[in-house]
Amino acid sequence: MRKPVIAGNWKMNKTVEESRSLVYDLSIGLRDIKGVEKVLLPPYLSILTAAALLEGTDIGLGAQNLHWEEKGAFTGEISAQMIAEFCQYVLIGHSERRTYFGESDETVNKKIFSAIAHNLIPIVCVGETLGEKETGQTGEVLVRQILNGLKDVTKEYVSAIIIAYEPVWAIGTGKASSAEDARNVIRDIIRPVLQEMYGVQAANSTRVLYGGSVTAANASGFFVHEDIDGALVGGASLKADEFVKITQAGAG
Ligand code: 13P
Repeated sequence: MRKPVIAGNWKMNKTVEESRSLVYDLSIGLRDIKGVEKVLLPPYLSILTAAALLEGTDIGLGAQNLHWEEKGAFTGEISAQMIAEFCQYVLIGHSERRTYFGESDETVNKKIFSAIAHNLIPIVCVGETLGEKETGQTGEVLVRQILNGLKDVTKEYVSAIIIAYEPVWAIGTGKASSAEDARNVIRDIIRPVLQEMYGVQAANSTRVLYGGSVTAANASGFFVHEDIDGALVGGASLKADEFVKITQAGAG
């Protein structure tokens, strides 16, 4: 059985003071929801405040990015070692990082190794653009992102990794994928690649989330499909009541 995960990617939103208030509201709203892994991914600066407020709760914390080197002359960067002092998770290869900051499957791969070395659970994002979808390249793109992103990651670590299928055309557009299409991509493309790389058992124990315009109104439609193990939520994770409702839907 794969435990569902609902993760909120706050992106570049919320000051420390605003984060304090949102984390406080979430800590109350999410308190009694069981059977689902709850993860908040605030901006770096809010992580310490969030960690203090979440101490003793079952709400996990993660960063939105990391640098693969441990330390050194990399101005402006944050390493897995630093993140691991406060967090259990780290987002890797979000499409916004790939599009605006030149991240590639190769850098994704280095980041996964660094995260694993520091016992962080990587949430690895994959997804096709609208152009790729329209030209029938979805399968090819996802297979390439997974094969190269997870290159040399061994079987013992793969089920600790969470994959997030986020079609780029669905992110922040209000146009979510249909639940059936997301299920089909996960069932017919993503899990088979994992199976090819790691065998049936490892592929079946790896969690695969959907992300892209998930809201309280559409969330439960995704979670009825057993191949969809939860959601990576952007905009709707900035409102406590919305995120609580999505998490409730994830808990079933
Ligand atoms: P939205 O939920 O705002 O579409 O963002 C999805 C996302 O990118 C989460 O990582």
